Amino acid sequence: MTPQHGLRHLSIRFMQGVCQLPEPKWIPSCRTLNAIRCLSSSSVSVIDLRSDTLTKPTQKMREAMKNAVVGDDVFGEDPTVNELQDVCASVLGKEASLLVPTCTMANTASVLVHCSGRFQEVILGEDSHMHMYELAGLAQLGGIQGRSIRNLPDGSMDLEEIEAKIRPVDDVHQPWTKAICLENTHNRCGGKVLTMDYVKKVKDLAKKHGLVVHLDGARLFNAATVLKVPPSEITQHADSVSVAFSKGLCCPLGSIMAGSKDFIDL
Ligand SMILES: Cc1ncc(COP(=O)(O)O)c(C=O)c1O
Repeated sequence: MTPQHGLRHLSIRFMQGVCQLPEPKWIPSCRTLNAIRCLSSSSVSVIDLRSDTLTKPTQKMREAMKNAVVGDDVFGEDPTVNELQDVCASVLGKEASLLVPTCTMANTASVLVHCSGRFQEVILGEDSHMHMYELAGLAQLGGIQGRSIRNLPDGSMDLEEIEAKIRPVDDVHQPWTKAICLENTHNRCGGKVLTMDYVKKVKDLAKKHGLVVHLDGARLFNAATVLKVPPSEITQHADSVSVAFSKGLCCPLGSIMAGSKDFIDL
């Protein structure tokens, strides 16, 4: 694969993902992309399509940061952080939320809370960000086994396959399944949005087996926009959720994890 192919591939993935196109309508040729690169060094302004993480804070955001009232967050006395957490909890329909530096941290910490005992396992997609790109943090930091299941092209996992992978609780030889992790929108599946019907079915399945659902909602607001529902309508089917502010929302970093008050306090 040449560097041009790499850039082209990334651009297509970006268009499928962030712009939520089901199929790319227009695939730029390498020549077109070279032309775009040349234009970027001229006075013509171009949109950098390599990633949705490239967005930068707007002037208004910089002003808000400069003028933010701050306090000691360890004592829970930073009014700006407290307000952000309250707003996020409310938007996500959860009792509480916690600001953390990255979405990787939000995902890892969430699963660590759900799997606080030993010999535990979570079911997740083999193409999920948590399985592919988070440096096996669940295993490294929590001794938690990730049991991966094939992701279908729409970002879902087959419900029967999930159910078949849930371990019996009465077998001392096997780790104990504690959670099912979903990703919405699904990064490696081209930004695909899980349907409301599907997320509800996963939650029902989890409930039937006494499991919890963690939702990697790094780009949850994209999903809510496409589904035309408030984010809380999606997150009602998850016990915990993480959302990134650095994906298309102009923040250099920052994520939120949300759930019940007990979950956040732990
Ligand atoms: C679906 C998904 N989850 C989690 C993350 C991790 O985010 P962060 O880079 O903030 O750790 C990403 C990053 O691209 C992602 O695409």
